[in-house]
Amino acid sequence: MHSVDPTTEQMIRAVLAYAENRLRLDPVPLDGVNRDPAALHATLAGLLGGESHNPDQVLGAYTSCVAPAVISADSPRFLGFIPAAPTKAALLFDMLVSCASIQGISWLEAAGAIQAENIVLRLIADRAGLPASAGGCFVSGGSAANLSALVVAREVAKRKAAHAGHTGRRLRAVVSADAHSSITNTLRILEMDPLIVATSDHRLTGAALRAAIEADGDPASLAAVVATAGTTNAGIIDDLAGAATVAREHGLWFHVDGAYGGAGLFAPSVRAAYDGIEHADSFVLDPHKWLFAPFDCAALLYRDPALARSVHKQDASYLDVIHSDPAEWNPTDYAYHLTRRARGLPLWFSLSVHGVSAYTEAIESAISLARQAAAEIGKRGYLELIREPDLGIVLFRRTSWAQDQYQDWADALLRDQVAFIPPSAWQGETVARFAFLHPHTSIDLVRQILDRMD
Ligand SMILES: Cc1ncc(COP(=O)(O)O)c(C=O)c1O
Repeated sequence: MHSVDPTTEQMIRAVLAYAENRLRLDPVPLDGVNRDPAALHATLAGLLGGESHNPDQVLGAYTSCVAPAVISADSPRFLGFIPAAPTKAALLFDMLVSCASIQGISWLEAAGAIQAENIVLRLIADRAGLPASAGGCFVSGGSAANLSALVVAREVAKRKAAHAGHTGRRLRAVVSADAHSSITNTLRILEMDPLIVATSDHRLTGAALRAAIEADGDPASLAAVVATAGTTNAGIIDDLAGAATVAREHGLWFHVDGAYGGAGLFAPSVRAAYDGIEHADSFVLDPHKWLFAPFDCAALLYRDPALARSVHKQDASYLDVIHSDPAEWNPTDYAYHLTRRARGLPLWFSLSVHGVSAYTEAIESAISLARQAAAEIGKRGYLELIREPDLGIVLFRRTSWAQDQYQDWADALLRDQVAFIPPSAWQGETVARFAFLHPHTSIDLVRQILDRMD
């Protein structure tokens, strides 16, 4: 299994040929139509047992059965949830990272990889206006990053409470109802409660935040304010400057979840909407979303990394060696993980190859497409735009449609391989939602999708 024998040679040829073909798909088709569990099981179950199989047979099962049962998130026709659009450069380099078995825990083991990753983290920190001291690491996704950041927020609040002689109390975080589901999960895992701020238009503002805290009976139990820079459902950027001011006034940790929308920092047309982000104590941006990296890659930054280190650093006799020089940067110290893929490297490679300006252009194209789509919706009497898009997400309704009709429309679009555009909900009502991210999604495709609602 570990030597380069004829079987290995056969696999190198076959798997790389498959990967090459996949890389050359332009555009990537949607696929994902045949998802019948029984059919999948029938093809796959027999391959896994004590005996060996010819690699071509196993790869054949992947090609004929597994791959077509996956909806390609990197297709320009994938317009649901939050799509992906990894650059070819990033995909290629991801293969290299896989082959290199880089253990990204510590400077001792992976200095070169960590330096390259940290240069990318610095670029993101600079775009956000975070101080030179800011730093962090790459983790698997926005959920992992939110959890890691709020662990630090909770610990800092506990230390403050202990200092003031209050121990053992349950802490809370102030959030908007539109914060990502991973924030709710995180708070449950951390045994924290949310103080949910009511907003009239789904955008958390400093004023609403202040009113909620002032009306609250137990402000001393608050540990953090969580704001979102690009909500998942509607792409709304909270009032980050207002939220930062209120967080500071009350001595609360200020966390900004930009897992989806953080990439808008690279788009001059919307950059002003992020003002205030420079005050974040922790900030999350998922390159596997709108910075065109492959899954899975989330950037997690702290204003004061030493605080994060004091919370996340794992102590063990076998790890003393990685902590012997305090000047060395160990990504394990900044999140709840130990073993870590050097998942920032594909982004580093692609950014270096293409240049940041190409990223700016690609991000702007999704913002522009969202505005064009909103205009197309406005032209059609049977459609209503729910709100003007801030970023690349457009919510709209088909007048008089019920949930079943949205679902039938979405099912037919996937069946016909036109688009993957599952319905969403807005204030309890089923609605349609475009999530634009891929720079090759065209306005012609948008028109075709809208026409099929007539
Ligand atoms: C705003 C926001 N936060 C967090 C997440 C979770 O990110 P991940 O799926 O990478 O865990 C998402 C995912 O869509 C998101 O949009």
